[in-house]
Amino acid sequence: MDRELKHDVVILGAGLAGLRAAVEISRRLGGQVDIGIVSKVQLMRAHSVCAEGGTAAVLRTDLGDSQELHAWDTVKGSDFLADQDVVRTFVETIPKEIRQLDHWGIPWTRDAEGYIAQRPFGGHSYPRATLAADKTGFFEMQTLYDQLQRYRNFTRYDEFFVTDILVHDGRFAGLVGLDTGSGETVAIRGKALLIASGGGGCLYGFTTYSQTVTGDGMAMAYRAGLPLEDMEFLQFHPTGLVPNGILMTEACRGEGGYLRNNTGERFMEKYAPKLVELAPRDMVSRAETEEILAGRGFKTPDGQDYLELDLTHLGADRINTRLPLIREVTIKFLGIDPITKPIPIRPVAHYSMGGIETDINGLTRIAGIWAAGEAACVSLHGGNRLGSNSTAECLVWGGITGREIAAALPGLGTAAALPAEKARGAEDHVRQVLARRGGENLYELRRQLRETMDSCVGVFRNGNDLARALKLIQELRVRSQQAPVADQSRIYNSNLIHALELENLVDLAEVTVAGALKRQESRGAHARRDFAVRDDANWLKHTLAFHTGTGPQLEYKSVTVDMWQPVERKY
Ligand code: FUM
Repeated sequence: MDRELKHDVVILGAGLAGLRAAVEISRRLGGQVDIGIVSKVQLMRAHSVCAEGGTAAVLRTDLGDSQELHAWDTVKGSDFLADQDVVRTFVETIPKEIRQLDHWGIPWTRDAEGYIAQRPFGGHSYPRATLAADKTGFFEMQTLYDQLQRYRNFTRYDEFFVTDILVHDGRFAGLVGLDTGSGETVAIRGKALLIASGGGGCLYGFTTYSQTVTGDGMAMAYRAGLPLEDMEFLQFHPTGLVPNGILMTEACRGEGGYLRNNTGERFMEKYAPKLVELAPRDMVSRAETEEILAGRGFKTPDGQDYLELDLTHLGADRINTRLPLIREVTIKFLGIDPITKPIPIRPVAHYSMGGIETDINGLTRIAGIWAAGEAACVSLHGGNRLGSNSTAECLVWGGITGREIAAALPGLGTAAALPAEKARGAEDHVRQVLARRGGENLYELRRQLRETMDSCVGVFRNGNDLARALKLIQELRVRSQQAPVADQSRIYNSNLIHALELENLVDLAEVTVAGALKRQESRGAHARRDFAVRDDANWLKHTLAFHTGTGPQLEYKSVTVDMWQPVERKY
Protein backbone atom coordinates (compact mmCIF):
# COMPACT_ATOMS: atom_id res chain seq x y z
CA MET A 1 0.00 0.00 0.00
CA ASP A 2 1.51 3.33 -1.00
CA ARG A 3 -0.42 5.33 1.62
CA GLU A 4 -2.73 4.69 4.56
CA LEU A 5 -5.10 7.45 5.70
CA LYS A 6 -7.72 7.66 8.43
CA HIS A 7 -10.97 9.62 9.01
CA ASP A 8 -13.83 9.28 11.48
CA VAL A 9 -16.34 9.02 8.66
CA VAL A 10 -15.72 8.06 5.05
CA ILE A 11 -18.36 9.06 2.49
CA LEU A 12 -18.12 7.19 -0.80
CA GLY A 13 -19.77 9.36 -3.44
CA ALA A 14 -20.10 13.13 -3.60
CA GLY A 15 -23.58 13.48 -5.09
CA LEU A 16 -26.69 14.79 -3.38
CA ALA A 17 -26.98 12.03 -0.74
CA GLY A 18 -23.28 12.16 0.15
CA LEU A 19 -23.13 15.95 0.44
CA ARG A 20 -26.39 16.15 2.37
CA ALA A 21 -25.02 13.57 4.85
CA ALA A 22 -21.69 15.43 5.16
CA VAL A 23 -23.54 18.65 6.01
CA GLU A 24 -25.75 16.88 8.57
CA ILE A 25 -22.87 15.11 10.33
CA SER A 26 -20.86 18.35 10.47
CA ARG A 27 -23.83 20.37 11.71
CA ARG A 28 -24.75 17.91 14.45
CA LEU A 29 -21.18 17.55 15.69
CA GLY A 30 -20.39 21.25 15.40
CA GLY A 31 -17.62 20.49 12.94
CA GLN A 32 -15.83 18.30 15.56
CA VAL A 33 -15.56 15.31 13.26
CA ASP A 34 -13.14 14.33 10.54
CA ILE A 35 -14.82 13.38 7.25
CA GLY A 36 -13.25 12.04 4.06
CA ILE A 37 -15.36 12.49 0.91
CA VAL A 38 -14.21 10.10 -1.79
CA SER A 39 -15.38 10.63 -5.35
CA LYS A 40 -14.57 8.97 -8.63
CA VAL A 41 -14.95 12.34 -10.37
CA GLN A 42 -14.44 15.98 -9.49
CA LEU A 43 -17.10 16.78 -6.87
CA MET A 44 -19.39 19.01 -8.94
CA ARG A 45 -19.32 16.40 -11.72
CA ALA A 46 -21.24 13.88 -9.60
CA HIS A 47 -24.17 12.64 -11.68
CA SER A 48 -26.65 14.41 -9.35
CA VAL A 49 -25.88 17.65 -11.20
CA CYS A 50 -27.70 16.13 -14.18
CA ALA A 51 -31.04 15.91 -12.33
CA GLU A 52 -33.34 18.22 -14.20
CA GLY A 53 -37.07 18.41 -13.60
CA GLY A 54 -37.71 18.67 -9.87
CA THR A 55 -37.88 17.29 -6.33
CA ALA A 56 -41.24 16.02 -5.08
CA ALA A 57 -42.59 17.45 -1.82
CA VAL A 58 -45.95 18.47 -0.38
CA LEU A 59 -45.79 22.23 0.16
CA ARG A 60 -49.31 23.44 -0.64
CA THR A 61 -51.69 21.73 1.77
CA ASP A 62 -53.74 24.96 1.54
CA LEU A 63 -54.47 24.07 -2.09
CA GLY A 64 -55.43 20.45 -1.42
CA ASP A 65 -52.18 18.50 -1.51
CA SER A 66 -51.41 16.20 1.42
CA GLN A 67 -48.65 13.90 2.63
CA GLU A 68 -51.10 11.02 2.61
CA LEU A 69 -51.77 11.65 -1.08
CA HIS A 70 -48.03 11.78 -1.84
CA ALA A 71 -47.60 8.50 0.05
CA TRP A 72 -50.47 6.84 -1.82
CA ASP A 73 -49.15 8.00 -5.21
CA THR A 74 -45.70 6.61 -4.35
CA VAL A 75 -47.06 3.25 -3.17
CA LYS A 76 -49.36 2.87 -6.17
CA GLY A 77 -46.58 4.02 -8.51
CA SER A 78 -44.27 1.36 -6.98
CA ASP A 79 -46.80 -1.31 -7.98
CA PHE A 80 -47.13 -1.99 -4.24
CA LEU A 81 -43.54 -3.16 -3.76
CA ALA A 82 -42.49 -0.08 -1.72
CA ASP A 83 -42.27 -0.53 2.05
CA GLN A 84 -45.10 1.67 3.29
CA ASP A 85 -43.43 2.72 6.57
CA VAL A 86 -40.46 3.97 4.52
CA VAL A 87 -42.81 5.90 2.23
CA ARG A 88 -44.43 7.65 5.21
CA THR A 89 -41.04 8.70 6.62
CA PHE A 90 -40.18 10.06 3.18
CA VAL A 91 -43.28 12.19 2.62
CA GLU A 92 -43.11 13.60 6.16
CA THR A 93 -39.45 14.60 5.86
CA ILE A 94 -39.04 15.99 2.36
CA PRO A 95 -41.02 19.25 2.83
CA LYS A 96 -38.57 20.22 5.60
CA GLU A 97 -35.63 19.50 3.30
CA ILE A 98 -37.10 21.77 0.60
CA ARG A 99 -37.58 24.66 3.04
CA GLN A 100 -34.13 24.10 4.48
CA LEU A 101 -32.56 24.36 1.03
CA ASP A 102 -34.57 27.55 0.58
CA HIS A 103 -33.05 28.98 3.77
CA TRP A 104 -29.63 27.89 2.56
CA GLY A 105 -30.09 29.99 -0.56
CA ILE A 106 -31.16 27.71 -3.39
CA PRO A 107 -32.72 29.71 -6.24
CA TRP A 108 -36.05 27.84 -6.36
CA THR A 109 -38.22 29.04 -9.21
CA ARG A 110 -41.11 31.17 -7.79
CA ASP A 111 -44.69 31.55 -8.94
CA ALA A 112 -46.37 34.91 -9.60
CA GLU A 113 -47.27 35.25 -5.89
CA GLY A 114 -43.75 34.48 -4.72
CA TYR A 115 -44.41 30.92 -3.55
CA ILE A 116 -41.89 28.20 -4.36
CA ALA A 117 -43.07 26.94 -7.76
CA GLN A 118 -44.11 23.31 -8.33
CA ARG A 119 -45.13 21.51 -11.48
CA PRO A 120 -46.91 18.26 -12.37
CA PHE A 121 -44.94 15.03 -12.78
CA GLY A 122 -46.08 11.55 -13.82
CA GLY A 123 -48.20 9.54 -11.39
CA HIS A 124 -48.47 12.40 -8.86
CA SER A 125 -52.02 13.57 -8.09
CA TYR A 126 -50.84 17.12 -7.44
CA PRO A 127 -48.17 19.41 -8.94
CA ARG A 128 -45.42 18.84 -6.37
CA ALA A 129 -42.18 18.69 -8.37
CA THR A 130 -40.29 21.61 -6.83
CA LEU A 131 -38.02 23.20 -9.39
CA ALA A 132 -35.07 25.39 -10.12
CA ALA A 133 -35.88 25.77 -13.85
CA ASP A 134 -34.73 22.47 -15.42
CA LYS A 135 -31.40 22.44 -13.55
CA THR A 136 -32.72 21.35 -10.16
CA GLY A 137 -29.97 18.85 -9.32
CA PHE A 138 -27.23 21.31 -10.20
CA PHE A 139 -28.61 23.99 -7.88
CA GLU A 140 -29.22 21.49 -5.07
CA MET A 141 -25.62 20.29 -5.33
CA GLN A 142 -24.27 23.81 -5.40
CA THR A 143 -26.32 24.81 -2.34
CA LEU A 144 -25.19 21.78 -0.33
CA TYR A 145 -21.57 22.29 -1.28
CA ASP A 146 -21.86 25.96 -0.25
CA GLN A 147 -23.21 24.84 3.14
CA LEU A 148 -20.38 22.39 3.60
CA GLN A 149 -17.92 25.28 3.22
CA ARG A 150 -19.07 26.53 6.63
CA TYR A 151 -17.15 23.63 8.15
CA ARG A 152 -13.46 22.91 7.91
CA ASN A 153 -13.67 19.28 8.90
CA PHE A 154 -13.68 17.46 5.57
CA THR A 155 -11.08 16.32 3.07
CA ARG A 156 -11.97 15.72 -0.58
CA TYR A 157 -10.52 12.81 -2.50
CA ASP A 158 -11.63 13.59 -6.05
CA GLU A 159 -10.78 11.32 -8.98
CA PHE A 160 -10.19 8.46 -6.57
CA PHE A 161 -11.36 5.04 -7.75
CA VAL A 162 -12.28 2.73 -4.88
CA THR A 163 -11.89 -0.98 -5.60
CA ASP A 164 -12.78 -2.65 -2.29
CA ILE A 165 -14.65 -2.20 0.96
CA LEU A 166 -12.79 -3.96 3.75
CA VAL A 167 -14.64 -5.50 6.68
CA HIS A 168 -12.92 -6.80 9.82
CA ASP A 169 -14.62 -8.81 12.58
CA GLY A 170 -18.02 -7.98 11.14
CA ARG A 171 -17.51 -4.20 11.06
CA PHE A 172 -16.34 -1.62 8.57
CA ALA A 173 -12.56 -1.22 8.50
CA GLY A 174 -11.69 0.82 5.42
CA LEU A 175 -11.64 1.37 1.68
CA VAL A 176 -8.87 0.52 -0.75
CA GLY A 177 -8.52 2.30 -4.05
CA LEU A 178 -6.44 4.13 -6.60
CA ASP A 179 -5.65 7.80 -6.45
CA THR A 180 -5.91 8.12 -10.22
CA GLY A 181 -3.88 11.34 -10.39
CA SER A 182 -0.81 9.77 -8.80
CA GLY A 183 -1.51 6.10 -9.48
CA GLU A 184 -0.90 5.31 -5.81
CA THR A 185 -2.76 2.54 -4.02
CA VAL A 186 -4.35 4.07 -0.93
CA ALA A 187 -6.20 2.65 2.06
CA ILE A 188 -8.64 4.92 3.88
CA ARG A 189 -9.62 3.64 7.31
CA GLY A 190 -12.64 4.89 9.22
CA LYS A 191 -15.17 4.19 11.96
CA ALA A 192 -18.16 4.67 9.69
CA LEU A 193 -18.80 4.42 5.96
CA LEU A 194 -21.67 5.92 3.97
CA ILE A 195 -22.03 4.44 0.49
CA ALA A 196 -23.68 7.09 -1.67
CA SER A 197 -22.11 6.31 -5.01
CA GLY A 198 -25.22 6.25 -7.22
CA GLY A 199 -26.83 3.70 -9.54
CA GLY A 200 -25.68 1.36 -12.28
CA GLY A 201 -27.38 2.59 -15.44
CA CYS A 202 -24.27 2.26 -17.59
CA LEU A 203 -25.17 -1.40 -17.75
CA TYR A 204 -27.16 -0.22 -20.74
CA GLY A 205 -25.94 1.35 -23.96
CA PHE A 206 -28.86 3.74 -24.35
CA THR A 207 -28.88 5.54 -21.03
CA THR A 208 -29.32 8.96 -19.44
CA TYR A 209 -26.44 8.31 -17.05
CA SER A 210 -23.05 9.95 -17.20
CA GLN A 211 -20.56 7.40 -18.50
CA THR A 212 -18.88 7.37 -15.08
CA VAL A 213 -21.91 5.83 -13.32
CA THR A 214 -20.94 2.16 -13.35
CA GLY A 215 -22.45 0.93 -10.08
CA ASP A 216 -19.06 0.57 -8.40
CA GLY A 217 -20.32 1.11 -4.84
CA MET A 218 -23.13 -1.41 -5.24
CA ALA A 219 -20.80 -4.03 -6.72
CA MET A 220 -18.19 -3.53 -4.00
CA ALA A 221 -20.80 -3.76 -1.27
CA TYR A 222 -22.12 -6.97 -2.84
CA ARG A 223 -18.65 -8.52 -2.90
CA ALA A 224 -18.09 -7.37 0.69
CA GLY A 225 -21.09 -9.46 1.79
CA LEU A 226 -24.05 -7.07 1.60
CA PRO A 227 -27.15 -8.21 -0.29
CA LEU A 228 -28.44 -6.22 -3.25
CA GLU A 229 -32.21 -5.80 -3.16
CA ASP A 230 -34.72 -5.70 -6.06
CA MET A 231 -32.09 -5.18 -8.75
CA GLU A 232 -34.37 -6.50 -11.50
CA PHE A 233 -36.33 -3.25 -11.29
CA LEU A 234 -34.57 -0.85 -13.63
CA GLN A 235 -36.41 2.26 -14.72
CA PHE A 236 -36.74 3.28 -18.37
CA HIS A 237 -37.47 6.98 -18.66
CA PRO A 238 -39.89 7.66 -21.53
CA THR A 239 -37.96 10.53 -23.07
CA GLY A 240 -34.32 9.93 -23.87
CA LEU A 241 -33.06 12.10 -26.72
CA VAL A 242 -32.45 10.06 -29.89
CA PRO A 243 -29.71 9.25 -30.77
CA ASN A 244 -27.61 9.86 -27.63
CA GLY A 245 -29.94 9.19 -24.66
CA ILE A 246 -29.60 12.61 -22.98
CA LEU A 247 -32.47 13.14 -20.54
CA MET A 248 -35.35 15.17 -21.92
CA THR A 249 -36.88 15.92 -18.56
CA GLU A 250 -40.37 14.73 -17.66
CA ALA A 251 -40.91 18.43 -16.91
CA CYS A 252 -41.39 18.81 -20.69
CA ARG A 253 -44.64 16.88 -20.22
CA GLY A 254 -45.26 18.48 -16.82
CA GLU A 255 -45.23 21.85 -18.57
CA GLY A 256 -47.80 20.52 -21.08
CA GLY A 257 -45.77 18.74 -23.79
CA TYR A 258 -47.34 15.97 -25.88
CA LEU A 259 -46.09 12.59 -27.09
CA ARG A 260 -47.03 11.81 -30.69
CA ASN A 261 -46.64 8.84 -33.03
CA ASN A 262 -46.12 8.93 -36.80
CA THR A 263 -49.80 9.66 -37.46
CA GLY A 264 -49.65 12.71 -35.20
CA GLU A 265 -51.79 10.95 -32.60
CA ARG A 266 -51.33 11.67 -28.87
CA PHE A 267 -51.15 7.92 -28.33
CA MET A 268 -51.08 8.06 -24.50
CA GLU A 269 -54.82 8.85 -24.61
CA LYS A 270 -55.33 5.15 -25.44
CA TYR A 271 -53.12 3.79 -22.66
CA ALA A 272 -53.85 6.15 -19.74
CA PRO A 273 -57.03 8.13 -20.51
CA LYS A 274 -56.91 10.16 -17.30
CA LEU A 275 -53.23 11.04 -16.88
CA VAL A 276 -52.28 10.76 -20.57
CA GLU A 277 -48.60 11.86 -20.93
CA LEU A 278 -48.30 12.12 -17.15
CA ALA A 279 -48.89 8.45 -16.38
CA PRO A 280 -46.06 6.78 -14.42
CA ARG A 281 -42.85 6.07 -16.32
CA ASP A 282 -43.20 2.29 -16.54
CA MET A 283 -46.54 2.69 -18.32
CA VAL A 284 -45.44 5.45 -20.69
CA SER A 285 -42.29 3.53 -21.65
CA ARG A 286 -44.35 0.41 -22.36
CA ALA A 287 -46.86 2.41 -24.42
CA GLU A 288 -44.05 3.95 -26.49
CA THR A 289 -42.54 0.51 -27.09
CA GLU A 290 -45.91 -0.87 -28.22
CA GLU A 291 -46.35 2.06 -30.63
CA ILE A 292 -42.91 1.44 -32.14
CA LEU A 293 -43.53 -2.32 -32.42
CA ALA A 294 -46.86 -1.63 -34.14
CA GLY A 295 -45.06 0.42 -36.81
CA ARG A 296 -46.27 3.80 -35.56
CA GLY A 297 -42.81 5.16 -34.76
CA PHE A 298 -40.32 7.12 -36.85
CA LYS A 299 -36.85 6.04 -37.95
CA THR A 300 -33.62 8.01 -38.04
CA PRO A 301 -31.54 7.75 -41.25
CA ASP A 302 -29.42 5.06 -39.53
CA GLY A 303 -32.52 3.06 -38.51
CA GLN A 304 -33.08 4.06 -34.88
CA ASP A 305 -36.71 4.05 -33.73
CA TYR A 306 -38.23 7.10 -32.12
CA LEU A 307 -41.42 8.97 -31.27
CA GLU A 308 -41.92 12.69 -30.92
CA LEU A 309 -42.03 14.93 -27.87
CA ASP A 310 -43.92 17.98 -29.04
CA LEU A 311 -43.47 21.28 -27.16
CA THR A 312 -44.26 23.57 -30.08
CA HIS A 313 -47.63 24.65 -28.62
CA LEU A 314 -46.03 25.81 -25.33
CA GLY A 315 -44.57 28.99 -26.76
CA ALA A 316 -41.12 30.53 -26.58
CA ASP A 317 -41.62 32.24 -23.22
CA ARG A 318 -42.53 29.07 -21.34
CA ILE A 319 -39.76 27.05 -22.94
CA ASN A 320 -37.15 29.73 -22.30
CA THR A 321 -38.07 30.22 -18.65
CA ARG A 322 -39.03 26.69 -17.54
CA LEU A 323 -37.04 24.45 -19.89
CA PRO A 324 -33.96 26.43 -20.92
CA LEU A 325 -31.58 23.47 -20.61
CA ILE A 326 -33.75 21.32 -22.87
CA ARG A 327 -33.72 23.99 -25.55
CA GLU A 328 -29.96 24.48 -25.22
CA VAL A 329 -29.28 20.73 -25.47
CA THR A 330 -31.54 20.01 -28.45
CA ILE A 331 -30.12 22.97 -30.38
CA LYS A 332 -26.51 22.09 -29.56
CA PHE A 333 -26.75 18.34 -30.15
CA LEU A 334 -29.31 18.06 -32.97
CA GLY A 335 -29.86 21.55 -34.32
CA ILE A 336 -33.53 21.24 -33.29
CA ASP A 337 -35.24 24.21 -31.65
CA PRO A 338 -38.18 22.79 -29.62
CA ILE A 339 -40.04 26.09 -29.98
CA THR A 340 -40.64 25.19 -33.61
CA LYS A 341 -39.91 21.46 -34.01
CA PRO A 342 -40.71 18.25 -32.06
CA ILE A 343 -37.91 16.38 -30.29
CA PRO A 344 -37.05 12.73 -31.20
CA ILE A 345 -37.23 10.49 -28.12
CA ARG A 346 -37.61 6.91 -26.95
CA PRO A 347 -37.41 4.98 -23.63
CA VAL A 348 -33.97 5.11 -22.04
CA ALA A 349 -32.32 3.38 -19.06
CA HIS A 350 -32.51 5.94 -16.25
CA TYR A 351 -32.61 4.68 -12.68
CA SER A 352 -31.95 1.65 -10.45
CA MET A 353 -34.89 1.06 -8.11
CA GLY A 354 -32.76 -1.65 -6.49
CA GLY A 355 -29.57 -1.25 -4.55
CA ILE A 356 -27.79 -2.11 -1.31
CA GLU A 357 -30.33 -3.36 1.21
CA THR A 358 -30.73 -1.00 4.17
CA ASP A 359 -33.14 -0.57 7.06
CA ILE A 360 -35.38 2.49 7.31
CA ASN A 361 -32.46 4.52 8.72
CA GLY A 362 -30.06 3.57 5.94
CA LEU A 363 -28.08 1.07 8.06
CA THR A 364 -26.84 -2.05 6.28
CA ARG A 365 -26.22 -5.51 7.72
CA ILE A 366 -22.55 -4.68 8.40
CA ALA A 367 -21.83 -2.59 11.51
CA GLY A 368 -20.52 0.85 10.61
CA ILE A 369 -21.82 0.82 7.02
CA TRP A 370 -24.77 2.92 5.88
CA ALA A 371 -26.03 3.49 2.34
CA ALA A 372 -28.18 6.27 0.86
CA GLY A 373 -29.49 7.58 -2.44
CA GLU A 374 -29.61 5.52 -5.60
CA ALA A 375 -26.87 3.13 -4.40
CA ALA A 376 -29.22 2.05 -1.60
CA CYS A 377 -32.50 0.20 -1.56
CA VAL A 378 -34.31 1.49 1.50
CA SER A 379 -37.33 0.30 -0.49
CA LEU A 380 -39.01 3.60 -1.22
CA HIS A 381 -39.63 3.06 -4.94
CA GLY A 382 -40.50 -0.64 -5.13
CA GLY A 383 -41.10 -1.74 -8.72
CA ASN A 384 -41.30 1.72 -10.26
CA ARG A 385 -40.14 5.13 -9.00
CA LEU A 386 -42.24 8.22 -9.57
CA GLY A 387 -40.36 11.04 -11.27
CA SER A 388 -38.99 13.68 -8.85
CA ASN A 389 -38.91 11.21 -5.93
CA SER A 390 -35.20 10.45 -6.42
CA THR A 391 -33.50 13.75 -5.64
CA ALA A 392 -36.03 13.86 -2.81
CA GLU A 393 -34.84 10.47 -1.56
CA CYS A 394 -31.21 11.63 -1.69
CA LEU A 395 -32.02 14.65 0.46
CA VAL A 396 -34.13 12.71 2.95
CA TRP A 397 -31.79 9.73 3.42
CA GLY A 398 -28.68 11.89 3.15
CA GLY A 399 -30.11 13.75 6.15
CA ILE A 400 -31.23 10.61 7.98
CA THR A 401 -27.95 8.70 7.53
CA GLY A 402 -26.05 11.86 8.52
CA ARG A 403 -28.09 12.04 11.71
CA GLU A 404 -27.62 8.32 12.41
CA ILE A 405 -23.87 8.35 11.78
CA ALA A 406 -23.41 11.41 14.00
CA ALA A 407 -25.32 9.65 16.79
CA ALA A 408 -23.48 6.35 16.34
CA LEU A 409 -19.92 7.73 16.21
CA PRO A 410 -19.24 7.90 19.98
CA GLY A 411 -20.23 4.23 20.28
CA LEU A 412 -18.05 3.10 17.40
CA GLY A 413 -14.82 3.46 19.41
CA THR A 414 -11.62 3.67 17.39
CA ALA A 415 -11.37 2.71 13.73
CA ALA A 416 -10.85 -1.01 13.18
CA ALA A 417 -7.42 -2.20 12.10
CA LEU A 418 -7.05 -2.77 8.40
CA PRO A 419 -7.27 -6.52 7.74
CA ALA A 420 -3.79 -6.96 6.26
CA GLU A 421 -4.52 -10.02 4.18
CA LYS A 422 -7.64 -8.52 2.59
CA ALA A 423 -5.83 -5.24 1.89
CA ARG A 424 -3.02 -7.17 0.20
CA GLY A 425 -5.64 -9.15 -1.74
CA ALA A 426 -7.17 -5.90 -3.02
CA GLU A 427 -3.76 -4.63 -4.18
CA ASP A 428 -2.90 -7.98 -5.75
CA HIS A 429 -6.14 -7.96 -7.67
CA VAL A 430 -5.23 -4.68 -9.39
CA ARG A 431 -1.80 -6.11 -10.23
CA GLN A 432 -3.45 -9.22 -11.70
CA VAL A 433 -5.75 -7.10 -13.85
CA LEU A 434 -2.72 -5.17 -15.13
CA ALA A 435 -0.92 -8.44 -15.88
CA ARG A 436 -3.70 -9.97 -18.00
CA ARG A 437 -2.78 -11.31 -21.39
CA GLY A 438 -4.98 -12.53 -24.24
CA GLY A 439 -6.83 -11.53 -27.37
CA GLU A 440 -10.00 -9.95 -25.99
CA ASN A 441 -10.71 -6.23 -26.07
CA LEU A 442 -12.05 -4.57 -22.94
CA TYR A 443 -14.04 -1.94 -24.79
CA GLU A 444 -15.60 -4.47 -27.11
CA LEU A 445 -16.64 -6.59 -24.11
CA ARG A 446 -18.25 -3.59 -22.45
CA ARG A 447 -20.06 -2.81 -25.70
CA GLN A 448 -21.34 -6.39 -25.90
CA LEU A 449 -22.49 -6.33 -22.29
CA ARG A 450 -24.48 -3.17 -22.86
CA GLU A 451 -25.92 -4.42 -26.13
CA THR A 452 -27.05 -7.60 -24.36
CA MET A 453 -28.79 -5.56 -21.65
CA ASP A 454 -30.40 -3.25 -24.24
CA SER A 455 -31.75 -6.08 -26.34
CA CYS A 456 -32.64 -8.77 -23.76
CA VAL A 457 -33.36 -6.91 -20.49
CA GLY A 458 -35.32 -3.90 -21.69
CA VAL A 459 -38.81 -2.46 -21.26
CA PHE A 460 -40.35 -5.88 -22.08
CA ARG A 461 -38.62 -9.11 -21.09
CA ASN A 462 -39.20 -12.83 -21.53
CA GLY A 463 -37.67 -15.98 -20.07
CA ASN A 464 -35.77 -16.99 -23.24
CA ASP A 465 -34.08 -13.62 -23.68
CA LEU A 466 -33.24 -13.39 -19.98
CA ALA A 467 -31.71 -16.88 -19.96
CA ARG A 468 -29.68 -16.00 -23.05
CA ALA A 469 -28.52 -12.75 -21.44
CA LEU A 470 -27.44 -14.57 -18.28
CA LYS A 471 -25.36 -17.01 -20.29
CA LEU A 472 -23.74 -14.20 -22.31
CA ILE A 473 -22.92 -12.25 -19.15
CA GLN A 474 -21.29 -15.30 -17.60
CA GLU A 475 -19.26 -15.82 -20.78
CA LEU A 476 -18.24 -12.16 -20.76
CA ARG A 477 -16.94 -12.59 -17.21
CA VAL A 478 -14.67 -15.43 -18.38
CA ARG A 479 -13.62 -13.60 -21.55
CA SER A 480 -12.72 -10.46 -19.59
CA GLN A 481 -9.88 -12.46 -17.99
CA GLN A 482 -8.30 -12.50 -21.46
CA ALA A 483 -8.67 -8.73 -22.00
CA PRO A 484 -5.33 -7.03 -21.42
CA VAL A 485 -4.89 -3.51 -20.08
CA ALA A 486 -2.74 -2.02 -22.81
CA ASP A 487 -1.77 1.09 -20.84
CA GLN A 488 0.60 0.07 -18.04
CA SER A 489 1.31 3.59 -16.74
CA ARG A 490 0.30 4.74 -13.27
CA ILE A 491 -0.95 8.28 -13.84
CA TYR A 492 -4.60 8.65 -14.93
CA ASN A 493 -4.74 5.13 -16.28
CA SER A 494 -8.29 5.19 -17.62
CA ASN A 495 -7.66 1.88 -19.39
CA LEU A 496 -7.18 0.20 -15.99
CA ILE A 497 -10.25 1.96 -14.57
CA HIS A 498 -12.28 0.62 -17.51
CA ALA A 499 -11.15 -2.91 -16.70
CA LEU A 500 -12.16 -2.52 -13.05
CA GLU A 501 -15.49 -0.93 -13.99
CA LEU A 502 -16.22 -3.82 -16.33
CA GLU A 503 -15.91 -6.24 -13.40
CA ASN A 504 -18.44 -4.18 -11.45
CA LEU A 505 -20.82 -3.99 -14.40
CA VAL A 506 -20.65 -7.74 -14.98
CA ASP A 507 -21.49 -8.41 -11.30
CA LEU A 508 -24.47 -6.05 -11.44
CA ALA A 509 -25.69 -7.38 -14.78
CA GLU A 510 -25.62 -10.92 -13.44
CA VAL A 511 -27.62 -9.98 -10.34
CA THR A 512 -30.12 -7.95 -12.40
CA VAL A 513 -30.75 -10.70 -14.91
CA ALA A 514 -30.81 -13.57 -12.39
CA GLY A 515 -33.45 -11.69 -10.37
CA ALA A 516 -35.46 -10.85 -13.49
CA LEU A 517 -35.39 -14.44 -14.74
CA LYS A 518 -36.58 -15.79 -11.42
CA ARG A 519 -39.37 -13.23 -10.95
CA GLN A 520 -42.17 -14.80 -12.96
CA GLU A 521 -44.63 -11.93 -12.95
CA SER A 522 -44.95 -8.38 -14.29
CA ARG A 523 -44.68 -5.62 -11.71
CA GLY A 524 -43.69 -1.98 -12.22
CA ALA A 525 -40.72 -1.69 -14.56
CA HIS A 526 -40.26 -5.47 -14.73
CA ALA A 527 -42.66 -6.41 -17.55
CA ARG A 528 -42.52 -10.00 -18.79
CA ARG A 529 -44.35 -11.03 -21.95
CA ASP A 530 -44.47 -14.61 -20.67
CA PHE A 531 -45.87 -13.66 -17.23
CA ALA A 532 -47.89 -10.60 -18.12
CA VAL A 533 -49.75 -9.94 -14.88
CA ARG A 534 -48.80 -9.04 -11.33
CA ASP A 535 -48.87 -12.05 -9.04
CA ASP A 536 -49.24 -10.87 -5.44
CA ALA A 537 -49.84 -14.37 -4.12
CA ASN A 538 -46.34 -15.51 -5.11
CA TRP A 539 -44.31 -12.38 -5.79
CA LEU A 540 -45.27 -9.61 -3.38
CA LYS A 541 -41.76 -9.87 -1.94
CA HIS A 542 -38.34 -8.26 -2.24
CA THR A 543 -35.47 -10.06 -3.97
CA LEU A 544 -32.15 -10.23 -2.10
CA ALA A 545 -29.02 -11.26 -4.03
CA PHE A 546 -26.02 -12.49 -2.03
CA HIS A 547 -22.57 -12.85 -3.54
CA THR A 548 -21.09 -16.34 -3.77
CA GLY A 549 -18.07 -17.50 -5.71
CA THR A 550 -20.41 -19.01 -8.29
CA GLY A 551 -22.98 -16.29 -8.94
CA PRO A 552 -25.76 -14.68 -6.94
CA GLN A 553 -27.74 -16.62 -4.38
CA LEU A 554 -31.32 -15.29 -4.39
CA GLU A 555 -33.44 -15.04 -1.27
CA TYR A 556 -36.67 -13.15 -0.61
CA LYS A 557 -38.11 -11.01 2.17
CA SER A 558 -41.54 -9.59 2.84
CA VAL A 559 -42.81 -6.14 1.89
CA THR A 560 -44.14 -3.83 4.62
CA VAL A 561 -47.81 -3.41 3.70
CA ASP A 562 -49.32 -1.71 6.74
CA MET A 563 -51.67 0.86 5.21
CA TRP A 564 -52.77 0.04 1.66
CA GLN A 565 -53.50 -3.40 0.23
CA PRO A 566 -52.49 -3.89 -3.42
CA VAL A 567 -55.15 -3.02 -6.01
CA GLU A 568 -55.10 -2.83 -9.79
CA ARG A 569 -53.18 0.22 -11.05
CA LYS A 570 -55.36 2.37 -13.32
CA TYR A 571 -54.54 5.91 -14.41
O1 FUM B 1 -37.30 13.80 -16.00
C1 FUM B 1 -36.63 14.21 -15.07
O2 FUM B 1 -36.42 15.40 -14.87
C2 FUM B 1 -36.10 13.22 -14.13
C3 FUM B 1 -36.42 13.27 -12.88
C4 FUM B 1 -36.29 12.08 -12.02
O3 FUM B 1 -35.78 11.07 -12.50
O4 FUM B 1 -36.74 12.10 -10.88
